[in-house]
Amino acid sequence: MNEARAATLAAYQAGAAAYAAGLPEVPDWLTRALGDFAALLGAGARVLEIGSGPGRDARELEAKGLLVRRTDITPAFVDLMRADGYDADVLDPLADDLGGPYDGVWASAVLLHLSREEMGVVLRRLHECTVVGGTLYASLKEGEGEAWSTHGHVTGPRLFTYWHAGPLRDALEAAGWRVRALRRTQGDRDVWLDVVGRRCSCSPSSAAAPSTRRSRPASHPRRCGARSGERSSSRRGTAE
Ligand SMILES: C[S@@+](CC[C@H](N)C(=O)[O-])C[C@H]1O[C@@H](n2cnc3c(N)ncnc32)[C@H](O)[C@@H]1O
Repeated sequence: MNEARAATLAAYQAGAAAYAAGLPEVPDWLTRALGDFAALLGAGARVLEIGSGPGRDARELEAKGLLVRRTDITPAFVDLMRADGYDADVLDPLADDLGGPYDGVWASAVLLHLSREEMGVVLRRLHECTVVGGTLYASLKEGEGEAWSTHGHVTGPRLFTYWHAGPLRDALEAAGWRVRALRRTQGDRDVWLDVVGRRCSCSPSSAAAPSTRRSRPASHPRRCGARSGERSSSRRGTAE
């Protein structure tokens, strides 16, 4: 494991309880995202959550009738969820068997801790464990490059990778996800990009797959034909 990744995970391991204690109520934009996701999937759908943290979003999704597998790469978060009486698994989306198939994947404020190369691999792995037509939700921070932050209730430094809408859309499409919605929302400090993807039947592009021990070449690589039929982007800052 590289040093930056290890430091980020150590920060969450040490700060999981503080994060849980400081987690606010679900903001309006996330309420909308949770509702849209649940409506797309329908009651009874099986959902893999990556980076459940203390499990707030999983509780919301289950209240809407979805069946959520809670996971986190940070053991301390898994311990917190288990202490609350839920099943939860330690799961590294980059390397572990993800199981499935799932009807949807929920990853809120999680994939922002992956490098751009890791992001391509993880998006392909999520494609592999999701049914054709399944739904992915992810939220990330908008911006340039990478940066360390100690902001918030977790005091240890964590490395964030920032994204712009265009490259994020490209990464999703190359991994076999058709972008259904991509919205910008101004948070307290950051602009958030929240994206909803639909799992294509197409094979992910091999160009998007840095070689790792888990990735395999696509037999007929082609990109998702994602742009036609989608709503064009708005520049007003809340929807793209
Ligand atoms: C800001 S918290 C978000 C938790 C939860 N989804 C929420 O919205 O409250 C970031 C999450 O990313 C997880 N995480 C950090 N680094 C990761 C990595 N390299 N791969 C997967 N998950 C990671 C942490 O364990 C933590 O659950």
